[in-house]
Amino acid sequence: MLDALYAPVIDEMDRVESLLKSQLRSEHAAIDEMLQHGSMLGGKRLRPALLLLSARLFAAPNDRHITLAAVMEMIHTATLIHDDILDEADKRRHIATCNAIWDNEASVLLGDYLFTHAFYLASTTESTLACRIIGEATNVVCAGELRQVRSRGNFELSEEAYFDIINAKTAKLCECSCRLGAHYADAADEDVMRLGEYGKHLGIAFQITDDLLDVLGDSRTTGKSLGTDLEKQKLTLPLIRTLQLASDGERDEIINLLTASGHRELPESGSLRERLLPYLERFEAIDYAREAARRHAELAQQQLADLPESEARDILAGLPAFVVSRNA
Ligand code: IPE
Ligand code: IPE
Ligand code: MG
Ligand code: MG
Repeated sequence: MLDALYAPVIDEMDRVESLLKSQLRSEHAAIDEMLQHGSMLGGKRLRPALLLLSARLFAAPNDRHITLAAVMEMIHTATLIHDDILDEADKRRHIATCNAIWDNEASVLLGDYLFTHAFYLASTTESTLACRIIGEATNVVCAGELRQVRSRGNFELSEEAYFDIINAKTAKLCECSCRLGAHYADAADEDVMRLGEYGKHLGIAFQITDDLLDVLGDSRTTGKSLGTDLEKQKLTLPLIRTLQLASDGERDEIINLLTASGHRELPESGSLRERLLPYLERFEAIDYAREAARRHAELAQQQLADLPESEARDILAGLPAFVVSRNA
């Protein structure tokens, strides 16, 4: 499926993979062991693909694109390594997380190692603009994760705050990937902006869908720990919607379930997500979130309307629908 979606840039994706492999080595055996851990592999590689496809709209991707695509993937992987510590997740990309194999301390430092290596690699393009855009975007991503961690257990979190957080923690990196791809293919400023908007809406649709998978998905398919948003009292769109519509009594029941789970006091009858699902269904909150994801997918697609026709454009136009219908 992904091979078909990435078809116009498949050779370049191979080059990105080789570059990642060669960059992620260390002379120190203990570090190299962590870098060689399979979780560096096996991701969907969506951000490199977005960067290369955005370039392909305007020109053949060049060496700078390959480097920057590897940079974006390294940054993304660093955020995942840190995110798995926060979520106490034990599975990622179908295998054990770094924090599960080693520990939180080593995982924090491995994440730092990847972030800093990514910035070093970006600087080899000799483009201050690329470094500035990537630095700004990564800073926004970290601010998004920070805001989310500070909002845990806030049962008053508004939809607006939720959208702000996912725009920062997820959409920003997609937006940045698309902008870099277009910019370094000499696209006009207006087109670079459009591609940025495309990436932003795609990223929002992507995260809403990810949040739905956390409640509804199968971890054998997604390859990662699920249910952690609820366990960590991270409010996502279906739950925010439910809490908005629930009566005072139902609100108390939901909050009791969420807070009791922290002490592992849940009665034997089902996991936290199984017990919350009836509430989400009662208020049609799953459909509500799906609809929001669909709206952003549509907004993403609309950004491409005025671009010249090409295979890359068709693929980018189809990606939002893929993102909202995915089960992994
Ligand atoms: C997971 O991203 C984290 C989110 C932003 C939701 P991906 O689903 O793109 O993860 P990989 O790279 O394919 O593993
Ligand atoms: C994390 O969001 C997104 C990042 C920017 C790291 P999630 O916590 O939902 O990501 P997953 O579900 O663990 O991949
Ligand atoms: Mg997580
Ligand atoms: Mg998630």
